Amino acid sequence: MKIVEQIKQPIYEEMELFEKKFSNSMSSKVALLNRITHYIVNRKGKQMRPMFVFLVAKMAGKGVVNERSYRAASVIELIHTATLVHDDVVDESYQRRGFFSINALWKNKIAVLVGDFLLSKGLLLCIDSGDFDLLKIISVAVREMSEGELLQIEKARRLNITEEIYYDIIRQKTASLVASCCALGACSVNASEKEVEEMRNFGELIGMAFQIKDDLFDYGSKEIGKPTGIDIKEKKLTLPLIYAINNCTESERKWVLNAVRNHNKNKKVVSKVIEFVKNKGGLEYAVSKMKDFQEQALDLLMKYPKSDYRDALETLVNYVIERKK
Ligand code: IPE
Ligand code: IPE
Ligand code: MG
Ligand code: MG
Repeated sequence: MKIVEQIKQPIYEEMELFEKKFSNSMSSKVALLNRITHYIVNRKGKQMRPMFVFLVAKMAGKGVVNERSYRAASVIELIHTATLVHDDVVDESYQRRGFFSINALWKNKIAVLVGDFLLSKGLLLCIDSGDFDLLKIISVAVREMSEGELLQIEKARRLNITEEIYYDIIRQKTASLVASCCALGACSVNASEKEVEEMRNFGELIGMAFQIKDDLFDYGSKEIGKPTGIDIKEKKLTLPLIYAINNCTESERKWVLNAVRNHNKNKKVVSKVIEFVKNKGGLEYAVSKMKDFQEQALDLLMKYPKSDYRDALETLVNYVIERKK
């Protein structure tokens, strides 16, 4: 059985129903919006976040989910989708999920407004049903994501990023949403505050590993459905490069920083920088840090009694690290 099927097995029916609800949650009276949201729904991603919501909900809720769990899953995927639509504007990226991004087809103006629409749809889903506990968890993540993206831009301008700041950025821009998936899953089935917090921590650790993996993809040349090799172009210093900069001679450091600062759009220079990172062992270092986060997440998970849901979560955590896209 394929790994994703294995993960979905204990939540198969929930995921099926989720897809219908998610698709309905985007409806609008404006024809242009409906065309665009159809385009989005037809090019779905891995849907890892709803999987976390349902698996955690079932683990914490003794095998039972409820309408709140479905709303949590839809909100999360709506907000995730909104951030991707905005992210491709910010990153001037024209490919997403193997197709043209929204900004590539409809331009920035429309992409910004579609992102806002999806975000508001997500928040309203909670408000209309009075799920203010869920809304609080999700709103924190939305704030963190925007702060993380802005911190990233600030650091890209000054190129003064350290490993610690890199972790702060990815914790805010990515891990906070994965953390809230797991917190929401637990909260949706009315788990104790302690358990919700524990699941939040679990999700945060996975989110950290997840973004390191994403940053590693950027150094590869495999087809992953979105562009690779664009981080340096955007002056985005990620873990492999940060490690290399901290483990080289002063003159190498000057050369790299100058290359990223002044020649970041020059393909030849960028591929030299990539070579440099590889030679310094930057990729291996990032892999080892990613595995540290993975291990911490699994340690936390193993405190729970064994069940089909825990097993599937374990497989999902490993999939975050081993996935091919
Ligand atoms: C991409 O997330 C954005 C990041 C936080 C790196 P995913 O890799 O989960 O995107 P989809 O939903 O599967 O396309
Ligand atoms: C992902 O950021 C989007 C957010 C977390 C808001 P990236 O720009 O690093 O992700 P990809 O590689 O475009 O998916
Ligand atoms: Mg991007
Ligand atoms: Mg980005």
